[in-house]
This record gives sequence, C-alpha cells and structure tokens, in this order.
Amino acid sequence: MKTAVIYMSKHGTAEKAAVLIAEKQNSGETEVINLRKDKLPSLEQFDRIVIGGSIHAGTIQKRVSKFCSKNLPLLMQKETGLFICCMDRNREKEEFENAFPKELREHAKACGILGGEFLFENMNFLEKAIIKKIAKTDQSIYQLNHAAIEKFADEMAR
Ligand SMILES: Cc1cc2nc3c(=O)[nH]c(=O)nc-3n(C[C@H](O)[C@H](O)[C@H](O)COP(=O)(O)O)c2cc1C
Repeated sequence: MKTAVIYMSKHGTAEKAAVLIAEKQNSGETEVINLRKDKLPSLEQFDRIVIGGSIHAGTIQKRVSKFCSKNLPLLMQKETGLFICCMDRNREKEEFENAFPKELREHAKACGILGGEFLFENMNFLEKAIIKKIAKTDQSIYQLNHAAIEKFADEMAR
C-alpha cells in the first residue's frame, strides 16, 4: 500500500496535519507532497491519496481545487481522504463542502475538519490586522484538533 499526502498550507498548520496523518499510515510507503514547493510525482503509483489544505477568506487554496478537478477521474479510482484546517466553527462544514467536488467527497474514505491555528508570528501585517479584528486577540491560538486527526487517520487505515 503506497500513500501520498498532498497538501497546501499558508502558515504551517495544514502541513502539521499532513505530517501527522502521514505518520499514522500504518502500511507501506508514504510520501508527503507540498503542492506549492514539491514536484508532483506520477499519481498512478499510489493506492491511497490524501488531499488537504487550509481555509483563508472562506476558500481553500486554488491549487488544491485545481488539483482535484484536474485529477478527478484518477482520484475516483483510488482510496482518498480529504481534509481542511480552518478556524470558523460556524462555517467549517460549508467551507469543507466548497473546498472539494461533491463526487470526490462522496467517494472519500475519510473527510476531516481538523481545526486550525492563528500563528501571529507567521502572519503579514494585513493578516495580523484582520485576525486581531476577527478573533479579538493578538496572541496565537492553537486549536489543531488532534482527536479529529487520529480519527481521520484511523478511517483511512481501515
Ligand atoms: C488572513 C486569514 C484569513 C482566514 N480566513 C478564514 C476563513 O475564512 N474561515 C476559516 O474557517 N478560517 C480562516 N482562517 C483560519 C485559517 O484557516 C487557520 O489559521 C489555519 O490553521 C491556517 O492553516 P495554514 O497555516 O495551513 O494555512 C484565516 C486565517 C487567516 C490568517
């Protein structure tokens, strides 16, 4: 069983989730692929493909959406898992639904809404101003949901 965990992350939270998910894949070889930096290997070689990203201003990274639509026929033949990192508990379900095509969501073995973080040290001036206003704090907030990551990894491994 060969697994790819393919992700995008702006400040590092979805990357943490991707690495934790990869570490919990119990069988065979696992590759973690950053869609922004890494050369995309041939997807044919993988049996299992996990795709994830983070939500900024309501949407997942464009490159994640494009990756899903471009590779949809192939992804439908694989075991797939889909996750997002985000901070808006009221909109997270809607954000997840908008992040991935319906067909892929229905096909996925695991779907995860894995919490998120506000990492002030990694934000630019504008982002800091936006988050200070929304979250009413200038302190970083750590809400990566480790229980949800565990559950997601277990569902994938079943
Ligand atoms: C400028 C900015 C805008 C954000 N907008 C949203 C949003 O619209 N909805 C949401 O649920 N979370 C939002 N978030 C929270 C991020 O999804 C959260 O910080 C996530 O952990 C980021 O993951 P990343 O570091 O992998 O990009 C926003 C965060 C920032 C910094």
